[in-house]
Parts: sequence; C-alpha cells; structure tokens
Amino acid sequence: MFVGDIIMSLLIFDGVDYRNGEKSILKNITLEIHKGDFISVVGPSGGGKTTLLKLCCNLTNPTKGGIYFNNKSIHEYAATEYRQRVAYCFQTPYLFGDTVLDNLNFPYTIRGKKIDMNRIHALFSDFQIDINMLHQSTTNLSGGEKQRIALIRSILFVPEVLLLDEVTSALDKDNTLIVEKVIDDLNLQGTTIMWITHNELQSKKYANKILRLENGEIHNFQLNTKEALL
Ligand SMILES: Nc1ncnc2c1ncn2[C@@H]1O[C@H](COP(=O)(O)OP(=O)(O)OP(=O)(O)O)[C@@H](O)[C@H]1O
Ligand SMILES: [Mg+2]
Repeated sequence: MFVGDIIMSLLIFDGVDYRNGEKSILKNITLEIHKGDFISVVGPSGGGKTTLLKLCCNLTNPTKGGIYFNNKSIHEYAATEYRQRVAYCFQTPYLFGDTVLDNLNFPYTIRGKKIDMNRIHALFSDFQIDINMLHQSTTNLSGGEKQRIALIRSILFVPEVLLLDEVTSALDKDNTLIVEKVIDDLNLQGTTIMWITHNELQSKKYANKILRLENGEIHNFQLNTKEALL
C-alpha cells in the first residue's frame, strides 16, 4: 500500500530494498517526494545516495518494493519517455561525441527535433560560459566545464524531476553560485529537484527538505529551516 497522500506525491518509494549479491545497499526505503520539492540528499560516503537517485530514474531496479511516478509504477513507462521526464546528472559527468555541440545536439536528435540555438545561447548566458566553447573538443574540457556542459545537456528540455549528483563538486565558488541560481530558478518554475551534496551550506540554502541517508537507511527526512542561515 502507498503511504499518506498519493495525490500530491510525484515520486513514491514503497519499501524499496536494493542488494548487490550479499551486500545490502538500500534497506526498506519508504519515501514520498512531492511536486515542487527541492530535496537535499546528504549523508556519509557510501551511504546509498547515488544508488537512490539511480533507482529514481530507473537506471537500476529495486530488489524488493516498488517505485511510482505520478501514481504509476516506473516500469510502466517507456524508458526513453521516463528519462526525459526524470533526468539524472551523473556524479562523474559523461560526455560523448567530439565536441560540446555534439553533446548539446543529442537531446534534440533523440526527440527528432531541430537544434534550438537560441535556447543554447540563453543557457550559456545563464551559466556565463563563452559560446565559443561549443566547438571545443570534449577531451580538452576541465572537470568543472564538463560538469556544466552535462548539466546544460540535462536541462535543454526542462524535466519534471531533476536528479543532481554532486554536480558542483569541481566548481569554484562563483561558478557554484551561478549553477545554484539556475537550479533554484528551475525549481521556482516547477521542476522537482533532488540534489546530492556534501556541501553543508549548499544543502541548507535552497532545499525545502533534507533527506539524510546512512548505511542504506533513511536516517531522517525533514523540513529544512532555511532561517538558520539568515
Ligand atoms: N553495483 C554495485 N555493486 C556493489 N556495491 C555497490 C554497487 N553500487 C554501489 N555499491 C556500494 O553501495 C554503497 C552505496 O554506494 P553509493 O554510490 O550509493 O553511495 P553514496 O552515498 O553515493 O557515496 P558517495 O558520497 O561516496 O558518492 C557503497 O558501499 C558502494 O560501494
Ligand atoms: Mg555518490
């Protein structure tokens, strides 16, 4: 059975376990994520944060229990449709093709659409990235540049849920603030965010809720009191 109010819940974990062989990685995760939530996912290394996000976007399957999106099991959605609605930005950015432009063309290609250069220019402007980077080889990009290009690729088409796995870990302070603003604006426009971070300030600055995972279990899931930062 579902827990609580399913009408407002966008994503539900119902008694989810994830094991790899003998190793229990996530244990009995029951969780409701509401439309418009901005959730910081925190906790010690190895606690299961990345695994939780991979389950959310159907990159991996639970060993037990169910995951529901808009009140329907995520397995009932076609994989391509689901990943467009629930997008995941990897902990280690993964770029492909030769150039930055190849990467940004990809979301249009899979949707059978023509590339929208105005959208790309607008996002480069938001991220304060020089537009000439479009023609740069991906092999020459810095770690921080790769992170931002992978993020731009994920939001060219705005997803309903955006799952972010330490996407500012390689960025300096100024660029971190720029990325945070873009993500916060997406949330204000209705995108539900789950953001894994080891940065305590970042975890408290924007989120309405904080989810702490330890040893594969929910240690706590509570409202964030942003006032503490003021
Ligand atoms: N496919 C797998 N096979 C075996 N063990 C795995 C697998 N995936 C994850 N694990 C283990 O599960 C645990 C949780 O991993 P996970 O990557 O979810 O942690 P995390 O909270 O994201 O950690 P970090 O903060 O270091 O990124 C770790 O002990 C990891 O070694
Ligand atoms: Mg991780």
